[in-house]
Amino acid sequence: MKPLKEYPNFNVVDHPLVKHKITYVRDKYTCKKVFKELVDEIGIFLAYELTQDFPLQEVEVETPLCKTRTQILGGKKPVLVPILRAGVGMLDGFLKIMPSARIGHIGISRDEETLLPNAYYCKLPVDSYQRTIVLIDPMLATGGSAVAAAAKIKEVGCKRIKFMCLIAAPEGVKAFCEAHPDIEVYAGCLDEKLNEKGYILPGLGDAGDRLCGTKPNPYMPPMGVRFF
Ligand code: PRP
Ligand code: URA
Repeated sequence: MKPLKEYPNFNVVDHPLVKHKITYVRDKYTCKKVFKELVDEIGIFLAYELTQDFPLQEVEVETPLCKTRTQILGGKKPVLVPILRAGVGMLDGFLKIMPSARIGHIGISRDEETLLPNAYYCKLPVDSYQRTIVLIDPMLATGGSAVAAAAKIKEVGCKRIKFMCLIAAPEGVKAFCEAHPDIEVYAGCLDEKLNEKGYILPGLGDAGDRLCGTKPNPYMPPMGVRFF
């Protein structure tokens, strides 16, 4: 994991398999099915890094040979909070390695003209303030959505928050880390910049559309081409 010098709470999960898989999610010819599978797989790596400091508790277990003292996760289960819509598509990787995690939802959409976030929904487990919150969104572009989502979660009393994303733009890193220096960010990669429409370059396009299939895909791979 590599923290940025300017923003020590921003970490890039610097792993060859993450780099490999991000290459294929970027590819415009990657179909919906493979795109979702890759996002799930990258989510597992991000979740692995993000949970490194989760507390443990000692327990006794009986193996077929003897009793031994060992460790399991301690404390309350975390709450995974995907930012609707695209964040929901990135939930499954985390749930695969921690299926007992609780789930909340926060609805924020970005106005396509102003790029400002519009918060339209928030439903969290009632005792969220006692738990670690993991905010999830594949894209940190201007940072508006993630900054607003974290502020909303703080408003209900949550103190321990982490954020994971697939691709971050420098503009979003600056906005998020300056607004929430207390929140550790785990990203799959740091891209170059935003374009004039607020899309990340090189990025992967519209994460929500690619995960949900809301727009026709003009880049169907030629028959017979399979990446995996
Ligand atoms: C996308 C993405 C983030 C947001 C990032 O969502 O999933 O939530 O944009 O942009 P920002 O950092 O500039 O705020 P979008 O608003 O397009 O909604 P969607 O998930 O419903 O597609
Ligand atoms: N939202 C996306 O889905 N993609 C971007 O590049 C920026 C915001």
